Amino acid sequence: MLVVEDFWSTEERRFFREGMNQSIWKSLSDLPHVRTDFPNSGNWAKAELGPEEGQRFLSRLQLPCIRDHIESFPNIIGRHVGFNYYSYSAGDCLLTHDDTDQGRLVDGRRAPKRRIAVVTYFHEEWQPDWGGELIIYERRADRAGGTINLIPTHCIEPRPGSLVMFTVPRFHRVCRVDPTAGEHRRLSIAGWFMTEHA
Ligand SMILES: [Fe+2]
Repeated sequence: MLVVEDFWSTEERRFFREGMNQSIWKSLSDLPHVRTDFPNSGNWAKAELGPEEGQRFLSRLQLPCIRDHIESFPNIIGRHVGFNYYSYSAGDCLLTHDDTDQGRLVDGRRAPKRRIAVVTYFHEEWQPDWGGELIIYERRADRAGGTINLIPTHCIEPRPGSLVMFTVPRFHRVCRVDPTAGEHRRLSIAGWFMTEHA
């Protein structure tokens, strides 16, 4: 678990917000697969990064801690990244999940393994009352060693310009954005560094 405050400068945040303004967005109601995995999650929206934004994003994420973790897995035959823009308005949330893929085949091949999840925030302002926190859980067995319970270990407010990273699998969820947010949107880039294995 790593949280970096002010990872992005004001200028960089503006750059990515402009990219978001130029993108074509799809909302959850247009994404039947995702909607099946995340029912009752409001109607958040998702968009692709443009080539320039994608390059700028990845060049800033050339961090040794990411590279070392990715390269620690044996028998890698390919490396992948998958990042998107996300916009959450009042009423939107993401139910608890651990980011392991849902086992679907991609073009008839096994999906690459997600290794590191990154989420980073680009809105101009966020108030604590507006919700949208990222909650991270730990799995703990009960005293009898039986049932596994999820215990919240981190509650991360989506502060503008901050960056959050964690290894996959890890259970987490995004709290519902509260109506007190009004027209403010929780704008993020989120996705994974992945590895492919024979
Ligand atoms: Fe996730």
